[in-house]
Amino acid sequence: MEEVNELFVPENKLNLALADASALPTISITKLDLEWVQVLSEGWASPLKGFMRERELLQVLHFGSLLDGGAINMSIPIVLPVSTETKQELEGCAAVALEYQGSCVAILRNPEFYAHRKEERCARQFGTTCPQHPYIKMIMEGGDWLVGGDLEVLERIKWNDGLDQYRLTPKELKQKFKDMQADAIFAFQLRNPVHNGHALLMQDTKRRLLERGYKNPVLLLHPLGGWTKDDDVPLSWRMTQHAAILEEGVLDPSSTIVAIFPSPMMYAGPTEVQWHCRARMIAGANFYIVGRDPAGMPHPVTKQDLYEPTHGGKVLTMAPGLTSVEIIPFRVAAYNKTKKIMDFYDPECHADFEFISGTKMRSLALSGENPPDGFMALKAWKVLVEYYSSLQKNN
Ligand code: ADX
Repeated sequence: MEEVNELFVPENKLNLALADASALPTISITKLDLEWVQVLSEGWASPLKGFMRERELLQVLHFGSLLDGGAINMSIPIVLPVSTETKQELEGCAAVALEYQGSCVAILRNPEFYAHRKEERCARQFGTTCPQHPYIKMIMEGGDWLVGGDLEVLERIKWNDGLDQYRLTPKELKQKFKDMQADAIFAFQLRNPVHNGHALLMQDTKRRLLERGYKNPVLLLHPLGGWTKDDDVPLSWRMTQHAAILEEGVLDPSSTIVAIFPSPMMYAGPTEVQWHCRARMIAGANFYIVGRDPAGMPHPVTKQDLYEPTHGGKVLTMAPGLTSVEIIPFRVAAYNKTKKIMDFYDPECHADFEFISGTKMRSLALSGENPPDGFMALKAWKVLVEYYSSLQKNN
């Protein structure tokens, strides 16, 4: 089992830390930075002790791993960008306080300032430097320096959006799995509404686990809850959609935990899917489902898939350091017009299949039409129709 390293200040030291923090110089952080503070504080990126120092970032960018203390899979940078002024002002301080919307959220000890080599970072992390890529755009607009250091987080990060109860930490998830007496936990990362193709992957995994002799496999349905690009469906709507999927019995509510993964989305394809998988491994998942083009998106300019859609699954099954999790890769699922179900694509009967893209789904939902029979449970579809019509009203 992987160790979960939380970075919260222990309760009996909280007053001391608060007094300490009030005397420190501050760095104002963004919502995106705070999402990363949440990720780090809850231990999803264990054994990281805070925002990456230069040495750690170099290991991540060049080896996809942290090397101090054995090779640990860590494929994405978790860094805090700051401006040149901030760097000039605060370099040499023993500690700084991180502040979000006027409140102190954490102390960063022994800070290390180093250059944010944005183009080089993006080329390595994303395999492209396309400035219209939505996460790259944010990187380019961010500070020219990074500050790493040891993080002491004062309180649990809450968003007060009515969904905090779903934001279970890795430790809480492990406890839940125990309480449910799960003998296998299979995790499903997603950032889109669940259609029957997604459901097929989860149902098929469960079937295989039962066949292998597991008695009580539990599904962790784990939508990503941090920043996503503008044309993705917002978290609150997705949560309502996922609830409808469970109500309709597409997935079995009694053996499913729905929780929110607090990480932002990066759209870094095969690099990012390793992060998605490792974080779930930390939370106690033994099996991780991966399908077509995980963490992918269309190239902002060419509109073709930015990453080769099978590479995510291939890379993940070969990735070093994912020792306590078994990868369950799937081929692409598409709509079978003859059978009227979502089915694994078979090139032999290509004509039977239709690939229903996100764009197609959007345009159907926008015009209030139903998708083809068997594509998505109707109650869940209605949630999407409502979401897209609310968008139109606001425009
Ligand atoms: S992701 O960014 O979280 O990967 P999404 O929510 O679309 O995006 O996908 C969730 C999971 O389902 C990923 O493992 C992805 O590979 C898989 N997936 C999505 N659509 C399909 C599909 N049509 N066929 C097979 N797998 C799919």
